[in-house]
Amino acid sequence: MTALVPAGAAGAFDYRAALVDLPSYHDDYTPEPTRAWRPVIGAGITLPPLGFAVLPSFDGEGIKTRDVNLGPITNFPEGEYVIATFMESPELGEVSRRTAFVRNNGRTENGTPSFTAIYSRCVHLGCPVQANGPSGQILGLPTVKEKTKNGPVTFSPTVPAGFGCPCHGGQYDTEGNRTAGPPVRGLDRYEYSIKNGRLVLGSAYSVDYVRGAGKDARIKKYPLHNPGQHVAGPEFWLWPIPEIRA
Ligand code: FES
Repeated sequence: MTALVPAGAAGAFDYRAALVDLPSYHDDYTPEPTRAWRPVIGAGITLPPLGFAVLPSFDGEGIKTRDVNLGPITNFPEGEYVIATFMESPELGEVSRRTAFVRNNGRTENGTPSFTAIYSRCVHLGCPVQANGPSGQILGLPTVKEKTKNGPVTFSPTVPAGFGCPCHGGQYDTEGNRTAGPPVRGLDRYEYSIKNGRLVLGSAYSVDYVRGAGKDARIKKYPLHNPGQHVAGPEFWLWPIPEIRA
């Protein structure tokens, strides 16, 4: 048997000469046709996630929501919340169903009816927020159904101590202000108007924080932002993409 001895020693086996001339791993074995497709393959992998990171979602700012007729204001007992579900675009069917927490605040000092209409979309990542409290049958109160131009609308009475999100524990008070968890601002709201004694929801808008409550609330409106986006403060200005900042 040949003894293994260091190369160069007398009688040693010269293993360098025996080495096959293998290519280094830097050599390119990609077949020529595949190489030509590299830019396309790279773009296909890179652009979709980049698009999701840079572009607003379909439910984001700049998209005006439709007016929704919720029926007579007598459907809304003063001082109490109801959970209103409605179709924003009846021609699209159930996929356009939305929920708002609507409270009749009574009348302001100048006699104008005042309502709070909170959009149920959590402003963390968009899960549906729930009323923290009994609602509907537990209260022994009926769910009201109303036929409107926007299709059927239902109102379920509720007595919330606040609103909570089942996804990551975001919590909000009864004005929609964030009280705990990961959401970055207060819950979005709907504009509203009273037309022929009926409550009509308009476009949704974003808020940072609501001061006061009910008909005395002071609210600064911001264009509707996506969940997760700040609308004010240093974090808003640090947002790296100005085009979708507001
Ligand atoms: S989506 Fe509501 S807390 Fe995360």
